[in-house]
Amino acid sequence: MTVSTLPRTALRSAQLVAASERMTLDPFTDVDWATPIDDSAFHLPPEVLPLFGTTVWQAMTLDQQITYSRHETAAVFGASIWFENALMQIVLRDLVTIPVTDPSHRYLLVEIADECRHSMMFGEYIRRAGTPAYGPKRASGSSGGTDGGRVLSYLLILAVEEFLDYVNRLTMRDERIHPVSRQIAKLHVLEEARHVSFAKTFLGEFWPTIDAADRQLVLDNAAELVGSIVHLNLDPALYEHLGIDNGMAIAESNPAYRKTLIAGLAKLTTFCEDIGVIDGAHRLHWELLGLVAQRTV
Ligand SMILES: [Fe+2]
Ligand SMILES: [Fe+2]
Repeated sequence: MTVSTLPRTALRSAQLVAASERMTLDPFTDVDWATPIDDSAFHLPPEVLPLFGTTVWQAMTLDQQITYSRHETAAVFGASIWFENALMQIVLRDLVTIPVTDPSHRYLLVEIADECRHSMMFGEYIRRAGTPAYGPKRASGSSGGTDGGRVLSYLLILAVEEFLDYVNRLTMRDERIHPVSRQIAKLHVLEEARHVSFAKTFLGEFWPTIDAADRQLVLDNAAELVGSIVHLNLDPALYEHLGIDNGMAIAESNPAYRKTLIAGLAKLTTFCEDIGVIDGAHRLHWELLGLVAQRTV
């Protein structure tokens, strides 16, 4: 089954094409690149930074914390370029199976065009921020063309989009944050809302139609894959570059960052519970991987 046989997804696609016509942003005119990307302000809210609250963080001066935030922002944007590249590969593969007369064909092309602009925007920030080109080193392949693989692919898209949406919303509203970072966050929130809407509509409609073997594949692999994809936001090269000993391990075990992960994934995990991708038998696995809060007994 392909995206094109799903009536609710087709209807939503037509609505999202219309919404895209009403508002599509150009990062090269809607972001003020004349403002230097310097260390006059934090680049992400300090509370979401992976080292926030640790002894390493407390030992930094304010200036060092701000510099560190510029590097983490570049790492998140480098990971975002990787995610968007993976997303475009998934969507391009789906597009060859969808008739051009189906509204989702047009919408998915719009989504790819959005991601092209976003990746150019993230790249522009990194080049102007003067950091190394952080980003995942592994190839950004996708999970294959089976129905289960397709569900997993769109779940991963949604996981990344919901997590970044959480961070972006905090960033765009926070007056402590550098204006360019806030403008980028706002642009991304506005355009990603459409992508989230498509992924949720498609998954909600497609998931109940797949066969038992594909369902099992998704149930058994979703938590691990979501955990590994979100983990790509941390880049060991950043800690090496800044000379922070054990930085990666300290970030991974930081209770404050673990809370941020759970909060940032809450919209995804609530959606997965609603549609049954997280069921009673698999919830503990999501908990053990630190992706949902432990249930209080
Ligand atoms: Fe994007
Ligand atoms: Fe997106």
